[in-house]
Amino acid sequence: MAQVLQPFANFYQQVDYPDLITGLEQPDDAAVWKLDDDRALVVTTDFFTPVVDNPYDYGSIAAANSLSDIYAMGAKPFLALNIAAIPNDLPKEMVSEILRGGMEKAREAGVVIAGGHTIQDKEPKYGLIALGFAHPEKLMVKGGMRECDVLLLSKPLGTGVITTALKKEIAHKEHLQTAIASMQELNAKAGALALELNAHGATDITGFGLLGHAWEMAKASGCGIRLRMDAIPLLPGAEEYAKKGTFAGGAFDNQAFYSPHVEFDDIPEYKQMLLFDPQTSGGLLVSVDEETYKNFNPKSGLSEVFTEIGRVIPGEKILVR
Ligand code: CO
Ligand code: CO
Repeated sequence: MAQVLQPFANFYQQVDYPDLITGLEQPDDAAVWKLDDDRALVVTTDFFTPVVDNPYDYGSIAAANSLSDIYAMGAKPFLALNIAAIPNDLPKEMVSEILRGGMEKAREAGVVIAGGHTIQDKEPKYGLIALGFAHPEKLMVKGGMRECDVLLLSKPLGTGVITTALKKEIAHKEHLQTAIASMQELNAKAGALALELNAHGATDITGFGLLGHAWEMAKASGCGIRLRMDAIPLLPGAEEYAKKGTFAGGAFDNQAFYSPHVEFDDIPEYKQMLLFDPQTSGGLLVSVDEETYKNFNPKSGLSEVFTEIGRVIPGEKILVR
C-alpha cells in the first residue's frame, strides 16, 4: 500500500478509531481493522503501468504485487477488485489478456476478483484492491523488529535494473524470463512460513528498494540493521546491467533519500545501487527470533524460500558489510 495519503492523517486525528490497528498514525503495508478477538480485516491497493511487454505477464505481476502487501501483514487474502486505466486505442485482446493474467494469479492465491472499475487514460494501469484476514495478535508490522533478530529475504533483487534493461533493449531473454517468473511468484509461502516462525516484523520490497524498506522497518522499530552484501540474493543478469548503470530514476531518488541512513563498507557503487533499486513484486523482508530460526523444522522448506541476509542490531543505521 502506498503512503501518499499520510499527510491527510492529521485531518483525522481528532477522531479516534480504536479498531483501526494500522493506518493513519501507524502506516504499514496495509490498513488493518480489528473485527473481533480472532479476526482482523486487512485492506490494500496497488496499481502501476506495464513493466513487461506481454499483457498476460503484466496482469499476473500486478496482481501478485497487490496481494503481496496482504502477505506482508501476516494475513491471507480472499477477495479483490480490479482497478484499471485503459487507453482507448489499446486492442480489446490485450485488455482481456491483462485481466486474465490478474484473474489467474488471484485464483492461484485462492482469491476471487468480484468486480472492479476501469477508467480511460493515455497509459495503461492495472492492479487490485485486495482484502484479507489476519489474527489480530499475529500481525507482522514494520515496527516489530527486535535486536538480535535474524533478517530473512524471500526473493532475489534485480527486477528494477532488468526491466529497465528491457526498456533500453539490452536485456537478455533468459534474464528477463527469470525476472518475470520472480515477479509473478506469490509471497504466499513466504508469508505462511513467516507466521509459523512467529516473525516479529515484516514488509515487502517494492518501490523504495531493499534499503528503503529495511530503513522503514528499522525506524519504526527503533533498531539498526547489519546486512551482508555477499548474502543478498541477486537475479541472474542484475550485476551485469548494474555495471552498465542501467538504473531507472527511482533508484537514484532512493539513493539520495536513504543514503544518510546507510553506511557501506568497501562496496563498489554499482552493487550499492542494486540495494537502492526499486523492485516490482519483490520478496518479503522478515525479522525472526534467532533461536526460533535455528530450531525451525529443516523439512519446512524454509531454506528454499528464505535467505538469511543480516541481523537487527542496536543503533539507528543500516550497515552494509
Ligand atoms: Co504497496
Ligand atoms: Co508493502
